[in-house]
Amino acid sequence: MTAPLTSPLPGRLAGKLRVGCIGCGRMGGAILFGLAARKIPGLTLCGCNRSPEKMEPLAALGVEAMPGIPELAAKADLLILAVKPYQVADVLAAARGHLRPGTLVLSVAAGVSLDRIAKGVGDGVAVARCMPTTTALVGKGIFAFCFAPGPHVEEWRTPLLELFGRLGLCLELPEEKFTDFSALIGAGPAYVFAMMQGLVQAGVTLGFPHAESRRMVGELFAGCAALADGGTAPLMQLRDDVCSPGGLTIAGVNVLDRAGLSGLLVDAVLAARERGREMER
Ligand SMILES: NC(=O)c1ccc[n+]([C@@H]2O[C@H](COP(=O)([O-])OP(=O)(O)OC[C@H]3O[C@@H](n4cnc5c(N)ncnc54)[C@H](OP(=O)(O)O)[C@@H]3O)[C@@H](O)[C@H]2O)c1
Repeated sequence: MTAPLTSPLPGRLAGKLRVGCIGCGRMGGAILFGLAARKIPGLTLCGCNRSPEKMEPLAALGVEAMPGIPELAAKADLLILAVKPYQVADVLAAARGHLRPGTLVLSVAAGVSLDRIAKGVGDGVAVARCMPTTTALVGKGIFAFCFAPGPHVEEWRTPLLELFGRLGLCLELPEEKFTDFSALIGAGPAYVFAMMQGLVQAGVTLGFPHAESRRMVGELFAGCAALADGGTAPLMQLRDDVCSPGGLTIAGVNVLDRAGLSGLLVDAVLAARERGREMER
């Protein structure tokens, strides 16, 4: 059974988990914001960001703005690295030496391997990777996790998945599937927003005011997601249920099929995976 979103953390973390985040931009900010909004008893949140003004909206939610990486590294039980991949080495160098044994360093940096992070933090520190989505901001994130073998990892696996379970769906994947996951799900919001934008544009073309078109299309996606999620019906059947023979919808769907929408989406994901692999090399 899923724990209520605001219930205390279970087990060894109950009443005493300090989560710190280095880099509070789009992704780090989304995770901290999502956790802060849930007001989980016993959870303390802190962060630091190169440009301090990004901490202001988070501080308003109770996230403590720390003066620098050493102070944050010394304080956090769970330290999230949410800087750009090319900044990870410098950040780890600044944190190393301040981390306590048993701390978990969780990197969300795309393409930075467990091995690289583990070498950067030194002995006695547990290491994991997470590939998140920005939808964590609204408690609808999708998170892939993998763990480096090490002495404290087993203590962290369940509580970490439980904590991030408050922000959405958590999966454990082998590290070699991370690029596939990034291409399909990490990049996913961009594909979905592109489709939404196209339909909003169609609404405006039909004469609906922009705001109204956007509101309707937003509800359409939310409703379809709920319908697809709640049932076991194949997606093709859900699609066909809307298409009356000889009707208006099938005329529109035929255009999408002729343009090869499904094939285009597959190609987009494969292109993203290829680029991800290039970036890892
Ligand atoms: N955005 C996504 O959808 C997404 C999805 C999956 C994974 N990720 C991963 O998440 C990570 C962050 O991406 P992002 O999109 O959130 O980038 P971002 O918005 O640029 O955030 C990175 C933040 O790190 C801060 N920073 C850089 N160096 C720092 C330092 N030494 N100390 C403290 N803060 C520092 C930056 O501060 P400034 O304000 O000074 O630049 C910036 O706010 C990346 O590794 C990316 O691969 C992102």
